[in-house]
Amino acid sequence: MAGLTFQPGVIGGTTLKNRLVRSATAENLAGPEGTVTDEMVSFYDRLAKGGVGLIVVSFAAVHPTGRVFARQLRVDTDEALAGLGRLVKVIGRGGAKAVLQLVHAGAAARSAVTGWPPMAPYPAFDPLTLSRARVMTEGEITETIAAFASAAGRAREAGFDMVQIHAAHGYLVTQFLSPANRRRDGWGGALPGRFRFLEETCRAVRSAVGDDYPILAKVNVGGDGLPPVQRRWVLDNLLPLVDGLELSGGLTWNGLISRGQLPIDIVVEGKSAAQRLVIRLMGHLLAGRVAFRGEAYWLPCVDGLAQHTSTPLILVGGLRSVKAIEMVLGQGIDFAALSRPLVREPDLPRQWREGRTAPALCTSCNRCLGMIERGKPLRCYA
Ligand SMILES: Cc1cc2nc3c(=O)[nH]c(=O)nc-3n(C[C@H](O)[C@H](O)[C@H](O)COP(=O)(O)O)c2cc1C
Repeated sequence: MAGLTFQPGVIGGTTLKNRLVRSATAENLAGPEGTVTDEMVSFYDRLAKGGVGLIVVSFAAVHPTGRVFARQLRVDTDEALAGLGRLVKVIGRGGAKAVLQLVHAGAAARSAVTGWPPMAPYPAFDPLTLSRARVMTEGEITETIAAFASAAGRAREAGFDMVQIHAAHGYLVTQFLSPANRRRDGWGGALPGRFRFLEETCRAVRSAVGDDYPILAKVNVGGDGLPPVQRRWVLDNLLPLVDGLELSGGLTWNGLISRGQLPIDIVVEGKSAAQRLVIRLMGHLLAGRVAFRGEAYWLPCVDGLAQHTSTPLILVGGLRSVKAIEMVLGQGIDFAALSRPLVREPDLPRQWREGRTAPALCTSCNRCLGMIERGKPLRCYA
């Protein structure tokens, strides 16, 4: 049954032992300073031994202003290097390749964590924190691009096989791409202006890591309000700048990224009365829209991209069975990424390789997501 799933694949000259990718899944396992802990090393040791080909170590903050969680991994200083090296070592020993995901959350950053008001290209409102971002100056924009580049350089120095620019899910890069970004200084307005931040970030990262080092980006193919023609323009212009694209969708607050149940009672815990009210109201409005109705839920938005490019494509979102993964790979997508299934069963790839036919046990209850939102460590809370 697993015809293509366990065939090797190549991204940017690096060979992966199979077509299964562990999609970035914030762990909240870093120390208070954002450095790698023993717990995090054990977590990745287990995941790597579970048989997945490529592991995206998650949500590493490139700049102090872009953090969301107190226990989020940081890659904004050289202090990070030793710990990152430990992660690379256990991941490699387990037989997987390692990617570091680089992020700045922009308007979704939390001032309780960063100590600064959140900043974004336009005065974006974040429905989860009920805060409005301060508009970034041009100096802050170029400083943030430089921060992505320095972070990528550190990832390479620590031994990671690749980096991934987080350009999905409503964080800073998506905020630049948004039609709501009406800046008139060349960093917003018409689409080329909105794309400029991502373009210059890719170029800066490229000059930091060199031509021989794979750069990935995680991007949205739907669920964020970008008109399809504009999305296609973004993807067409991004493809020449990267060595691989992970295709996802949705925004931090609209439930579409990780479709399934909305764990409202978990998310509201510890929030202010106003936040509780808004979250409960949004939950009520969104519940029907975000239910899990089938595997590979972003595939319908991919729209012939695989036939149009030779750049490796990774699809994420609701993959739960080898049957669905084979179907996706059969349509020209190169890799299949899993997040929640590997939270519950880190050794699912090994089991599938050894002949298990049953799908993942993950029920998409999203309690893991609710607990991460509260700053708790990543594990299955079902
Ligand atoms: C607990 C949790 C944490 C996540 N953290 C990240 C993250 O740090 N970066 C990211 O790009 N996506 C993150 N995601 C989204 C997943 O990578 C993935 O796109 C989404 O859950 C759909 O895939 P799945 O159905 O295999 O879970 C997270 C999802 C969950 C459930």
